[in-house]
Amino acid sequence: MISEAEQLDTLRELGIELSRVQDLDILMERILSEARRFVNADAGSIYIRDGKSLHFTYTQNDTLQQRLGKHEKLIYATFTMPINEKSIAGYVASTGQALSIGDVEEIPPSSPYHFDRQFDEASHYTTHSMLTIPLKTAKDEILGILQVINARDEANRIGPFSELAEKMMFHFASIAAVALERAQMTRAILLRMIRMAEMRDPKETGAHVNRVGGYAVEIYEQWAHRRNYSKKEIDKDRDILRMAAMLHDVGKVAISDLILKKPGRFNKEEYEIMKQHTVLGARLFQDPKSDFDDAAAEVSLTHHERWDGGGYPGYVNVSTGEALADFSNKDGSPKGKAAEEIPLYGRIVALADVFDALSSARVYKEAWDESKVLETIEKAAGSQFDPEIVEIFFSIIDVMRSIQKRFQDEL
Ligand SMILES: [Fe+2]
Ligand SMILES: [Fe+2]
Repeated sequence: MISEAEQLDTLRELGIELSRVQDLDILMERILSEARRFVNADAGSIYIRDGKSLHFTYTQNDTLQQRLGKHEKLIYATFTMPINEKSIAGYVASTGQALSIGDVEEIPPSSPYHFDRQFDEASHYTTHSMLTIPLKTAKDEILGILQVINARDEANRIGPFSELAEKMMFHFASIAAVALERAQMTRAILLRMIRMAEMRDPKETGAHVNRVGGYAVEIYEQWAHRRNYSKKEIDKDRDILRMAAMLHDVGKVAISDLILKKPGRFNKEEYEIMKQHTVLGARLFQDPKSDFDDAAAEVSLTHHERWDGGGYPGYVNVSTGEALADFSNKDGSPKGKAAEEIPLYGRIVALADVFDALSSARVYKEAWDESKVLETIEKAAGSQFDPEIVEIFFSIIDVMRSIQKRFQDEL
């Protein structure tokens, strides 16, 4: 048994680790996996508060995960519930007090909250012990709820959470809340940048960019598993890619309204101007301060390149938008980048963006049926898209669908 002092040391290191994660979704994943590891819990969930409701945003479950293949993801439904004392998470959110339940079967009928069996029934899982802790800011506001489920002892037997585990989770929650508050602020700033682009081009909604970011990291993760990247490396790249992918079209802020808001088709000149959003976006991140700036520039610049070399903007100087001397066609136009000349993040976001655009309703078109979307993507493997990225996309189509459900357009 490790001592309390040792546990506190581990916590301090964890705080530093968590403070490195910038993207909100990636951070929630990390908080939950670290919390579970810390108290040896089989499962757990995170709820995020939004006004008077709680969003069930993230869940992990070792037992259910073991029923899946190695890199397969647990698919779960996200949902929203009111903050009141009837549910366990709602009770903790409304009272601000942690709640440790030895076995949910033994909750007395007189208690205000009760255990909701829906998840267990749908997934054939049995919840016993449950430790539910509020994630509070320094100002005592509730950011969300962290819940760990089914404590395991050394022999992997499920029992109640120990008093020490409860105490440690309390410290953990305060560290996690700091990281969470900061990541929520970063996310809010990103979404504001995106809203600026959206005011110019109504197609770039918050839901669209959240989906594109979500698809991109899932595709990347599978790509990286195939190459045996370490978990640490994958986590770091996912964090950066998610935010960079969200900003793929941010260069549209610099394109004239006459073009962006034009109903109907572009003429040749207008299309040429529209294409500049790639270079203009890359220019925003041209003086890189971090790996994130590099990734964001790469995604902006290359998300409309095609695997067969027929995309845009091709080999251009980001500062001037002109063709690079050694990479221009006879007429002086830039050569397109082809195949692996296109950076990986650009190849991934190209597919994520098109998949989402085809699947969504836009002012000028209805959403396509999924079968038609998938057929189009399959046909474009090797011409528009990297064939391996397309193959990975189809191998995790269920995960793509769950992201689609999670970030829906506001009607
Ligand atoms: Fe674009
Ligand atoms: Fe887009």
